[in-house]
Amino acid sequence: MCGIIGFTGLKQAAPILLEGLARMEYRGYDSAGIAVVSSDPPRALQLAKVSGKVAGLFEKTQNGAAFPGTCGIGHTRWATHGAPTETNAHPHVSMHGMFAVNHNGIIENFVPLKQELLAKGYTFKSETDTEVVAQLLEDNYEGDFQKAVEKVLSMIEGSYAFAIVCRDDPDTLFAVKKNSPLILGKGEGFNLFASDVTALVEHTREVVYMEDGQYAKVTPDSIELFAEDGSPLPLVTSHVTLSISAAEKGGYEHFMMKEMMEQPEAVERTISPRIKDGEIVLDDFSLTREQLLGFRKIMITACGSAYYAGLAGKYAIERLCGLPVDVQIASELRYSDTPIDDRCLLIVLSQSGETLDTIAAVKECKAKGATVLAIVNVVESALTKLADSVLYTWAGPEVAVATTKGYTTQLAVLYLFAVYAAKVLGRLDGEAYASYIRELQQLPEAVRASLKLDCDMENMAQYFKDAQHVFYLGRNTDSALAMEGALKFKEISYIHAEAYAAGELKHGTIALIEPGTPVVSLCTNEALIEKSLSNIIEVKARGAVVTAVVPAGVPVSEEIRGYADRCVEVPALRDIFASIAAVVPLQLLAYHVAKLRGCSIDKPKNLAKSVTVE
Ligand code: G6P
Repeated sequence: MCGIIGFTGLKQAAPILLEGLARMEYRGYDSAGIAVVSSDPPRALQLAKVSGKVAGLFEKTQNGAAFPGTCGIGHTRWATHGAPTETNAHPHVSMHGMFAVNHNGIIENFVPLKQELLAKGYTFKSETDTEVVAQLLEDNYEGDFQKAVEKVLSMIEGSYAFAIVCRDDPDTLFAVKKNSPLILGKGEGFNLFASDVTALVEHTREVVYMEDGQYAKVTPDSIELFAEDGSPLPLVTSHVTLSISAAEKGGYEHFMMKEMMEQPEAVERTISPRIKDGEIVLDDFSLTREQLLGFRKIMITACGSAYYAGLAGKYAIERLCGLPVDVQIASELRYSDTPIDDRCLLIVLSQSGETLDTIAAVKECKAKGATVLAIVNVVESALTKLADSVLYTWAGPEVAVATTKGYTTQLAVLYLFAVYAAKVLGRLDGEAYASYIRELQQLPEAVRASLKLDCDMENMAQYFKDAQHVFYLGRNTDSALAMEGALKFKEISYIHAEAYAAGELKHGTIALIEPGTPVVSLCTNEALIEKSLSNIIEVKARGAVVTAVVPAGVPVSEEIRGYADRCVEVPALRDIFASIAAVVPLQLLAYHVAKLRGCSIDKPKNLAKSVTVE
């Protein structure tokens, strides 16, 4: 949901800004822009904007060479206020060219502020809330950049991260954070900041994670951090170990393929260090045994694929822990009257840790007394600050908008948690516990085995590429898996796909099955295969072409083979863990169908990876 960057130092700013934007493009890619203070007189803010992707900005600025200067800001946008046109692209410059502003977030009171400015004679070029901030800075500027920033921050309401540059103060930038991420990077002879650490690591590994309500004055030689009230704050520096290659395609055509292929290692990193001598040891889990024993209910909340991971986790937790688990979409939970109290554990799932609806739901539930366990991938992200305990998914940076390794590592943590909590609650011990541990340790290998289906799924993609609708069916854990499979398929191939609990299809939706309609039937749950078979027979009778996903080496799979048009064999795992390997062919199918259709795989239309608006 928009990426912003600022650089000031001895090097040319524009190429650094452009590279940083390219790395953060997953955050929004409908328009982009940079503003650089000119190094040659007369001093001015040089501005380039494009509608569309960052590649257009590279072209427009001759890879940055057209904009000489050592201080500037950049932005890649996912439109909220105003269509994704060049005019609405950031940076927004004040009427007399004194300030340029990049913004990630929403200014809630921009309408009255704009009216006041209009009454004072200010004119506006764009439909954005951000332009109001640029004009307000100019209106409140009396020769002191910092004072103008402080004044404007006291006037605006909403959520934001800003990068601000001033023509009259050519080496200085201001970085402001409230509810949108911003990380400062400390260099030698330069300093910079960005929405995501992946845009910084090429230049420095010493970073400062800004907190909400803070702002920073950034010059080539110094970073000064301030609280909302203007009082100075110490800089707490962290060392980032992330490799640059983690944020690059590494020879793959798309980030999505690279990230799918990284899943065995990601799942391994997430699980292995947490199993020591046959025991699950959650060093980073701070809830006590007494706390766990006190919970009467678990609520899981998330958005998108993280929500579907939560649905899959429900089956594992209910089976092993015997606690009721409710799973709600965060944007619904935040406005619901679902009873939540201090005997409720809220498990929140988020790859980015910054999804606005998810954060809002957590705040609501916390206010009602819930204890919060966050399962998050991005280190130090907003949700980690709100939670009582955090379990990281060590997936590494995920760039493709459609999550893959983010989802599988969320499943891995949920499975770990379910087994761990069952042990603590006294519901799992001895050989039963040991056998769960052994299977958890086998999961990375099972995911690796599923990836060998790549060629098969590539071949199978041709049967799906011209479909109008695809139905994904499954029962129990497979119904949660069906939802993730359908989401992956539709979000990158733009073919309508719908998931149904297999037994529910006949209550209406089966009317849409016609001769030739592709149906993907998920049958990983051995105990329910007979039931799934009945559903396959039902849709086959209406002409559907069925692709079944079955566990390898299980006799009952043979029965399915007799009816389905095609079978995909995945590693046979215990039903509550099966989704982690069975989702892989579904990801691969979506990828290959999207590729055959020439879709923008890593950056599907209308989407963004981290959704920081309601
Ligand atoms: C967006 C992404 C999805 C993701 C969802 C939740 O819609 O495109 O891939 O599942 O946000 O994001 P989160 O970062 O909270 O997991």
